Amino acid sequence: MKYYLTTPIYYVNATPHIGHAYTTLVADTVKRVRRMMGDEAYLSTGTDEHGQKVERSAEKAGWTAQEFADRVSGAFRAEWDSLGIDYDFFVRTTEPRHARAVQWLFERCRQNGFIKKDTYTGKYDVSGEAFVTDEEAEKIDGPVEVVTEENYFFKLSEFQDRLLKHYEDNPAFIRPESRRNEVISFVKGGLKDLSISRANLKWGIPLPGDDGHVFYVWFDALTNYITALGYGSDGEVDPKGLWPADVHIVGKEIVRFHAVYWPAFLMAAGLPLPKAIYAHGWLIFQEEKMSKTKGNVVRAKPIDQVVGIEGLRHYLLREIVFGQDGNFSYEGLVGRYNADLANGLGNLASRTLAMIHRYFDGAVPEPPAASGGALAKQATETIAKVRDHFEAFEFSRGLDAIWALSGAVDKYLVEQKPWVLIKGEDEATKAQLRATLYNAAEVLRIVTALASPVLPKAAAEIWRQLGQESALNAVRYDGLRWGQLKPGTKLPGGEAVFPRLDVEASITKMRELEQEVLKEQAAIMGKTAAGFDWSTLVPLASKEQAAIMGKTAAAAPAAREKPADSERIEIDDFAKVEMRVGVVRTAEKVKKADKLLHLTIDIGEAEPRSIMAGIAAAYEPESLIGRKVAIVANLKPRKLRGLVSDGMIIAASGEDGNPNLVSFLEDAPIGARLG
Ligand code: MSP
Repeated sequence: MKYYLTTPIYYVNATPHIGHAYTTLVADTVKRVRRMMGDEAYLSTGTDEHGQKVERSAEKAGWTAQEFADRVSGAFRAEWDSLGIDYDFFVRTTEPRHARAVQWLFERCRQNGFIKKDTYTGKYDVSGEAFVTDEEAEKIDGPVEVVTEENYFFKLSEFQDRLLKHYEDNPAFIRPESRRNEVISFVKGGLKDLSISRANLKWGIPLPGDDGHVFYVWFDALTNYITALGYGSDGEVDPKGLWPADVHIVGKEIVRFHAVYWPAFLMAAGLPLPKAIYAHGWLIFQEEKMSKTKGNVVRAKPIDQVVGIEGLRHYLLREIVFGQDGNFSYEGLVGRYNADLANGLGNLASRTLAMIHRYFDGAVPEPPAASGGALAKQATETIAKVRDHFEAFEFSRGLDAIWALSGAVDKYLVEQKPWVLIKGEDEATKAQLRATLYNAAEVLRIVTALASPVLPKAAAEIWRQLGQESALNAVRYDGLRWGQLKPGTKLPGGEAVFPRLDVEASITKMRELEQEVLKEQAAIMGKTAAGFDWSTLVPLASKEQAAIMGKTAAAAPAAREKPADSERIEIDDFAKVEMRVGVVRTAEKVKKADKLLHLTIDIGEAEPRSIMAGIAAAYEPESLIGRKVAIVANLKPRKLRGLVSDGMIIAASGEDGNPNLVSFLEDAPIGARLG
């Protein structure tokens, strides 16, 4: 059976982070699961490149909108390639084929009588690219503008009953249940017609027959799912025979667009609806949704370089109950890696294979007949369980079952003690040794196959080390059975797949690399190759900065007078000021205070210090995370904007009063005193 699944297409106003990677890794895993179920699975992903937000970001960065979109879209594609994502289609909304598909869909809706022209006045959320209610506008941090336009409207109001009926008739259409209930109550609350064009906006797809208008981004973006298949391009409606999609995997914040607008557009056009929309929760980092605007972002590349992408895949899928929000932490990531992969599967593989190499000259031993016993039974049950859990998107439960099986072999080896059995001379002991190592290797083979949708690279390597000549990709749940490991199979040998990691050192390394990747990504977005184009940022008023820094602002004079002797201080006076090296753990903008950042800085105390700094105009919060800074540690704490500032970050007053943070060329230890 053909199976078509999609990720959302990612906005190009942010470079890829692990929030995007999460959705994409899940989709890639689902594709591999479906292949193991015997389906011919296709995965589509891409980038969402139109709209005011992108136009503004491009302008700010000094690129044309197209140049900017090309760069960031390229970064997404390169990211998915380097992470080994097995996508089949990559859609860019600036491609001509996509414009054709959008115009085609619109024409079908228009021919069927679901488009009208009308005027509309409303509050428009520029960042969210949507008209919002007064109540919603109150809650929005970014710019909200009052816009009156003559627009093309989609008659969404005519679809309320049909949508509700569809939800009712297809209980699995929106998953999980909590999201389904949300959508149903939203639709029951009444649907208004939806403006689907924008006048006065250039960066979009022109409306056929009215060049003064471009499509509203969501009408444009949602259509990507059929662009991927060649809709509207070559005369055939579904040339690849893949529509309707089996599942759209999305983050929970965009369920409404997928479960209300998109099915309505499709109904209006007379096209079949996707079979399911599955919404996952958010990755939370430092207690908030990971997002570029908040600056609490972690990227996949540093993780890939230190822990390996499979460590991240395993961590995200095992730790987070799919559908719910989940915390990301470096400690959790490395902890999971060491426990499950290095000490778990990796160790099982190296121990088992090493013993077969040592005791049987690298050839799988012949077990006595029917010696699999309880392990064989558990393995058979696990195959069915994992298949069911993975099919139902219950990744953490599926992985729990796989690791329970792997743990059972560890226990079995401890009980059987093959390292003692090898010393036995009698036939019974020899047979027991052969059974033990055969059984361990056979479970390892099954565990490897079952884990392969989540750990494709490592599984392929263990598979090879098990001497398996068939492609791991060709394994099907249905065909996977106890006893398929052939006695006599020669094991080719190889390196350990998951070497143990030093927790501290690997976290430090990831944080360091994060800074490098941040610079690379900044260079993609901003025009200056060295990093962000700082000139686009609003300079900080030096007086305000000085007030926050607790000193008087004075631009550096050309030639400074030496201080008079009477103004000089004793060394003891200086010693009163305790300055220490710290590392920025978190950095966030402060609501309603453009210039302020709220930092937490680790100076080696039990808790990082909460410190406010007037440096928001010169430093993006995300650029500071992991950076070593100097702080005054023994200032009396004070409150700013309701937040405690327990210390002062040290900066020079640079050009135009912009702060230049003190930093270290050497790797100064955290907590070291300056003096
Ligand atoms: N362009 C729209 C989607 C159009 S689809 C027709 C969009 N793009 S986005 O780049 O802002 O985010 C897309 C998706 O990225 C989210 O729905 C979610 O799947 C993923 N995530 C982005 N940040 C995330 C987290 N912090 N946590 C989990 N997923 C996150 O919305």
